[in-house]
Amino acid sequence: MKKHFVLLAIAAFVLGSCTSRNYMAADGVAVFVPEGFDASQHLPSPIFLEDLARHGRVPSKWELVPQFSNENGKSVVRINVADADLYGTGEVWGPLRRNGDKNIFWNRDNGAYAAHDGKELYQTHPWVLGLREDGSSFGIIFDNTWRSELQCDSVITYTSDGPAFRVVVIEKDSPAEVLKTLGRLSGTMEMPPLWALGYQQCRFSYYPDTRVKEVADEFRNRNIPCDVIWMDIHYMDGYRIFTFDPNRFPDPKGLNDYLHARNFKSVYMIDPGAKVDSTYWVDKEGLANDYFVHDADGKPFEGGMWPGLTHWPDFSMPEVREWWAGLYKDFMAQGVDGIWNDVNEPAVFGGGEEMTMPDDNIHRGGDGRTAGNHVRYHNVFGYDMVRASRAGILAANPDKRPFVLSRSNFLGGQRYAATWTGDNVSSVEQMKGAVAMTLNMGLSGQAFNGPDVGGFLDDCNPKLLAQWTAMGVYFPFLRNHSCDGTVDQEPWAMGPETEAVCRTAINRRYRLLPYIYTLFREASVSGLPVMRPVFWADTRDLSLRAEQDAYLLGGDLLVVPRYAETTAALPQGDWQSVSFEDTDDGYQARLYVRDGAIVPVGKVFQNTVEYNTDELTLLVNLNEDGKAYGTLYEDAGDGFGYKSGEYGEYRIVAERIDGEVQVRFEHVAGNFNNTERCFKVLNL
Ligand code: NOJ
Repeated sequence: MKKHFVLLAIAAFVLGSCTSRNYMAADGVAVFVPEGFDASQHLPSPIFLEDLARHGRVPSKWELVPQFSNENGKSVVRINVADADLYGTGEVWGPLRRNGDKNIFWNRDNGAYAAHDGKELYQTHPWVLGLREDGSSFGIIFDNTWRSELQCDSVITYTSDGPAFRVVVIEKDSPAEVLKTLGRLSGTMEMPPLWALGYQQCRFSYYPDTRVKEVADEFRNRNIPCDVIWMDIHYMDGYRIFTFDPNRFPDPKGLNDYLHARNFKSVYMIDPGAKVDSTYWVDKEGLANDYFVHDADGKPFEGGMWPGLTHWPDFSMPEVREWWAGLYKDFMAQGVDGIWNDVNEPAVFGGGEEMTMPDDNIHRGGDGRTAGNHVRYHNVFGYDMVRASRAGILAANPDKRPFVLSRSNFLGGQRYAATWTGDNVSSVEQMKGAVAMTLNMGLSGQAFNGPDVGGFLDDCNPKLLAQWTAMGVYFPFLRNHSCDGTVDQEPWAMGPETEAVCRTAINRRYRLLPYIYTLFREASVSGLPVMRPVFWADTRDLSLRAEQDAYLLGGDLLVVPRYAETTAALPQGDWQSVSFEDTDDGYQARLYVRDGAIVPVGKVFQNTVEYNTDELTLLVNLNEDGKAYGTLYEDAGDGFGYKSGEYGEYRIVAERIDGEVQVRFEHVAGNFNNTERCFKVLNL
């Protein structure tokens, strides 16, 4: 009898673990699958590197269990997170701490973040990071591309217009472990070229080519460091993508050579839409091969964009992505260094209140994805576009690290492109709000992100440009950009005082590059953000949970914008202030080094071609035991040699011995081994 019972129990257990829809995919990673889940509507998921295989049962004591329901034809999930603090949720205008706030996930061209109070922006990251009072943390992925909404309350409610979807819950001891797990599941940013971490200058648009040269020359003549000049849509021939205006840009190769000779890189915009034009080769090729998104009648959909009516590649189709990637070959051969993919929400002029395609447009899918309507594919249009762009740029220049900046993206898209926060406004409010936005993007897997410095819409003014540059040079992505018709916004455009403040701030950026590059390496390996909220310094200090003026660059450098120096909540501990200048211009951010940390900084370089780590200054803040530690990563700054060992990673160790601070470099990994380098120590 007893034997039978045991056998029955084992059989029930085995059967249970085979048939239960929910399962563990990894340590601390539970996958919840709703009744009636139709994989053909969701899988393969754009979020994950590979599908989530079963590795056992969800423990009965698992805390966060999603409740699935169908309400008024919508698929709803509720999760009781009690009083946890909530972050992440991707791109949104609003507070860092997301409790009580909402997101609308329907990628949208949203100038000034004006529509829907900025809750519906250009990108979708159906993801929440939670932090409990005790510092333990969780992450929730709603594995769904369909139009949806997220309301962050003590019970999180996520509502989708599509069929029932899976929910993945990550449980770990700290937010860092949760983000590393997200990185393992959904991939991390690839190491960008070093030049993409420098200061970048843009406007809508610099033209003709002589103006581009003029702007570049100003930087060098005025000794303001800069790495990249950006070409917005006016370089194109009638806004036809992959072309150059024969009058404004008659010799793109010559222009790029000019820039390269002065150690600049060039980034050019490529929009998704091809002008409807029977004489234009991109449109002809797309039509001949039936590569464009279909309308409900199965005909190529035509929607408005800069060139007038345009056709929109169906990036859900593998053959279209391959074609699109191939278009970059000749374009990059003009000496183009990076690509800017814009309006890929997709934003369609004349596309109704939401400025996009009709819901019943058809995307044909492939590679395991079934065909679907626009409600399913809209949010991954930009994601699918940038993965094709990245592949094309890499194929065109196989020895260089691709750089793509995208306005739209989706959770997981950090693997393909950096992003910026779209069309912000030149206002103090939007400058301040950029901190929370960029932090939450970093807490959503998108480490390489930042706003248009100085603000895009409306005229900037001298004080604002000075303030914004002074607080913004520590953001992962650093580009000054402004809209057509606004006043000039280059660092020198607003008079000598502003110019001096901007120069000092940008000099600081270049001095910090050894540290920043090391952080990018860490982010690319682990998925940790480059820019972090202050609470990261002490996840148990509840007073830091909503701080959104000050922020951390990596783990060791605290940045307090000048306007927040008396109001920001700062972490406990012996953080030591550091300054790079002899006099204070009243604008530069206050910087503090964590106790027990070493921050390696270099010299001021005018660009990253000149950059090296031969003469470092080590900012050392010894802890109570008279010790401090730092890390330095270095490689060629471009190319893929680092993947086969051509890099150096060092642990920097400082110790107070007999009243003197002694510092040494310990080689940790890589073929570079420069432990006998020249450095100065600044004991803070
Ligand atoms: C919209 C983008 O957000 C903006 O940055 C760009 O300047 C314009 N499109 C023109 O291309």
